[in-house]
Amino acid sequence: VVVEEMLTGPECSLLAFTDGITVRPMATSQDHKRALEGDLGPNTGGMGAYAPAPVMTPELVQTVYDTILVPVVQGLANEGITYQGCLYAGLMITAGGPKVVEFNCRFGDPETQAVLPLLDGDLAQIMYACTQGTLRRDMVHWKQGAACCVIMASKGYPASSHKGDVISGLDAVDDDIVVFHSGTKKADGLYQTNGGRVLGVTAMGEDLKAAIDKAYVNVRKISFDGQQVRSDIGAKGLRHLK
Ligand code: GLY
Repeated sequence: VVVEEMLTGPECSLLAFTDGITVRPMATSQDHKRALEGDLGPNTGGMGAYAPAPVMTPELVQTVYDTILVPVVQGLANEGITYQGCLYAGLMITAGGPKVVEFNCRFGDPETQAVLPLLDGDLAQIMYACTQGTLRRDMVHWKQGAACCVIMASKGYPASSHKGDVISGLDAVDDDIVVFHSGTKKADGLYQTNGGRVLGVTAMGEDLKAAIDKAYVNVRKISFDGQQVRSDIGAKGLRHLK
């Protein structure tokens, strides 16, 4: 019998760059795991994300840095493991403070599609510095504003996925939109669906509402048969700001 503490509270992700000594947190973010609006329906690989997550105040980020991220990297170092790269902390913000739900030794998906567009620096330089043990605080800065990534999934997802539906409108999106291809292929000169989560459409804005609005304006320019899109990506963040 395993008895575990039941944790309740909003979830969020805090990823960090580290070279094994220096730890630099990224912008906070929040994933949307469920297929349907209101966090209903089956679990998915993530239907969208936004960054930063207002639930994570600067004080909470400092707490996670001091009590979770740095001790983990130092603890690994004490055991002879120089952990270099990206450390992903999946957190629950409970009444008793932030608790770790999971660690991943990788970037998060789709959080990264919202986080990295806010990086005000050179990702290649940062990642190289992580491998060389030369990461410095001043290499990692974040832009003002917010980013929202809306996932467009194919018919049947997550139980199944549909391949071969022609995707139209990709060339109609605004110049500053980033469209991440995750389940696409190009055949006969046309982009087609080729997996469950097909595209991640990321917009940046001066604040979260602007980023959300812009993401959805551009999502509506793209279409394919059977597309599935949650209409409330980022709404939790807006509610938190009220
Ligand atoms: N967004 C959850 C993960 O990447 O594991």
